[in-house]
Amino acid sequence: MNKKEKFDLIEKKIKEIIEQEETREKKLLSITELISSELDYYNWVGFYIVDKEKKNELYLGPFTGEPTTHTRITFGKGVCGRSAQLEKSLLISDVSQESNYLSCSINVKSEIVVPIFKKNENENNLYVAQIDVDSHLRNAFDQLDEIFLNKIANFCSDLF
Ligand code: SME
Repeated sequence: MNKKEKFDLIEKKIKEIIEQEETREKKLLSITELISSELDYYNWVGFYIVDKEKKNELYLGPFTGEPTTHTRITFGKGVCGRSAQLEKSLLISDVSQESNYLSCSINVKSEIVVPIFKKNENENNLYVAQIDVDSHLRNAFDQLDEIFLNKIANFCSDLF
């Protein structure tokens, strides 16, 4: 199975998870478990969610991988905080080259973060959360990973 076929299969399974009668937290956790078990270079998969009270802070949601001390991240700080501030995906092929980076584990070599948007009552896109993935391989992620994670982000949008 090539990478695209693998992604298609995972996307199908994620749609099934989203349709289950479960809490949001359980569904998000199942999604992180599925992705990290199916893709061996996805070593940490998690959701960071915008704190609606503070607005400029993310808190750690469901994740699969090593526990992290970065349970709250201010917009602008690290890769996650920068992605939140820019409301854009960030693909970091070598984290050792980043000056504004929050390390979770010395094993992590590359990282990708994609935003999750939700439409508000005026049909404007609201930035609500992000999917963060770490890999122990340098240069682990490419455009296909970004397209894949963007699709997952769109599927998850209604959960927020
Ligand atoms: N490396 C991230 C912090 C989150 S951990 O990867 C789980 C960052 O620089 O924002």
